[in-house]
Amino acid sequence: MKDIVTVILAAGQGTRMKSDKPKVLHEICSKPMIRYILDMVYGLKIKKNILIVGHHGELVRDKVLSCYPGLECIKQHEQLGSGHALLQAKKELVGYKGDIMVVCGDTPLLSSQTIKKLVSFHKQKCCAATILTAHFENPTGYGRIIRGEDAGVYGIVEHKDANEKEKLITEINTGTYCFDNKYLFNCLKKIKCNNVKKEYYLTDVIKILIDMGLNVQALPVSDTSEVVGINNRVHLAMAESVIQKRILNELMMGGVSIKDPSNTYISSDTKIGRDTYIYPGTIIEGKTIIGNNCYVGPNSFIKDSTIGKNVTIRASFIYSARIGDDVKIGPYSHIRPDTVLAQNSRVGNFVEIKKSRIGKGSKISHLTYIGDTHMADNVNIGAGVITCNYDGISKNRTTIGDDSFIGSNVNLVAPVKIGKGAIIGAGSTINKNVPAYALALARSRQLNKHGYVKKLRKARK
Ligand code: UD1
Ligand code: CA
Repeated sequence: MKDIVTVILAAGQGTRMKSDKPKVLHEICSKPMIRYILDMVYGLKIKKNILIVGHHGELVRDKVLSCYPGLECIKQHEQLGSGHALLQAKKELVGYKGDIMVVCGDTPLLSSQTIKKLVSFHKQKCCAATILTAHFENPTGYGRIIRGEDAGVYGIVEHKDANEKEKLITEINTGTYCFDNKYLFNCLKKIKCNNVKKEYYLTDVIKILIDMGLNVQALPVSDTSEVVGINNRVHLAMAESVIQKRILNELMMGGVSIKDPSNTYISSDTKIGRDTYIYPGTIIEGKTIIGNNCYVGPNSFIKDSTIGKNVTIRASFIYSARIGDDVKIGPYSHIRPDTVLAQNSRVGNFVEIKKSRIGKGSKISHLTYIGDTHMADNVNIGAGVITCNYDGISKNRTTIGDDSFIGSNVNLVAPVKIGKGAIIGAGSTINKNVPAYALALARSRQLNKHGYVKKLRKARK
């Protein structure tokens, strides 16, 4: 749609969210609400997109600007209403001869098909304005479409300003419109704020256009679930469940098995390969990529991570990590940011790994903490090993060479280097480097007192 300009209104305070965060940055399936509408309009290849930001506008701008090339952000310094918000785009659109599509940043379920229908209807009927409407069983809170006896549109009245009779109208304004730029901004200037909210309502422009004798039409949407406006956290949860269903269906259609979709939560920026099985209680957030043929869950949490193919992850937490092919994780592993687990490595129960690289085929099977460590290939770590990476002032690194064997209950006091092929005896506290192929023992020698217990018992009788 190269012949259209979009203005996205997203400056509102979102008072009903009861939040310190701007409404459009609240997340749905781990993605800020505003990105849904932006992704949709960017998919339509529109000539120009203008985003009106206001309340904490810099935060909104920072979150979106780098993801949407060419996006024009304009600040509405005072939030005086949706009509006043659209007026902020005037400078950008002086001399533009064409149509403007206006959408609200808080309608994340709107589809591109609906927008295409709206635009082609608007053009076909040569309208000055076309309103996308919907018939809602419960229209509470929405602006109502006032139609005359001839069924033509006469105006929009906001819920708060509607009388009892108008409140019975079930056709609502979705907040999505198409306007001919020729008339729009002159009419916007005429809007007054003599209403309950003392705001400059965009909806009042409709009556002004009609009074000028211009053609204004309403197009009811076919799927009403698309046009819900998110004004509070109950709406947010509703949108989350609709979008979650869409994401899971798309994954399943692409060859991913999800044992219990009602108990699986996957972000919209996650990609999963075919023949991967997701077990219940799994939450995958942020930008996560999972390869083919993996088993994830039950009860796992993965965020912003890349997982190779043939990987098993049971009941574990993984944040900002890179996991190679054929790796096994869990149950009950905690993989923290900047960790790389190379191919075929194994991390078992009650193991925490932070900012470390674990080499190919290395095994850390039980009850271990590895932090700030470079571990080479085929290393075996016994139960209860701890890299003591923090001396109370700074973090220090541990290096462990290929094929080495770290016995159970060993403390590696960093900074320390364990050479290739070395063996560290169980229970050792190692604070000096260990050369390649050396055996290091750092524990007190065992003393056996023969027959001592028998003597002791006799003495006590
Ligand atoms: C609005 C419509 C209502 C419609 C509903 C659909 C108006 C007056 N009413 O009501 O008819 O049924 O959407 O969801 O438009 N905004 C700004 N700056 C402002 C005020 C609002 O940018 O000063 C933006 C908001 O960020 C939002 C949009 O305009 O994206 C609508 O504002 P909101 O307060 O959500 O209006 P509703 O009461 O939902
Ligand atoms: Ca709204």
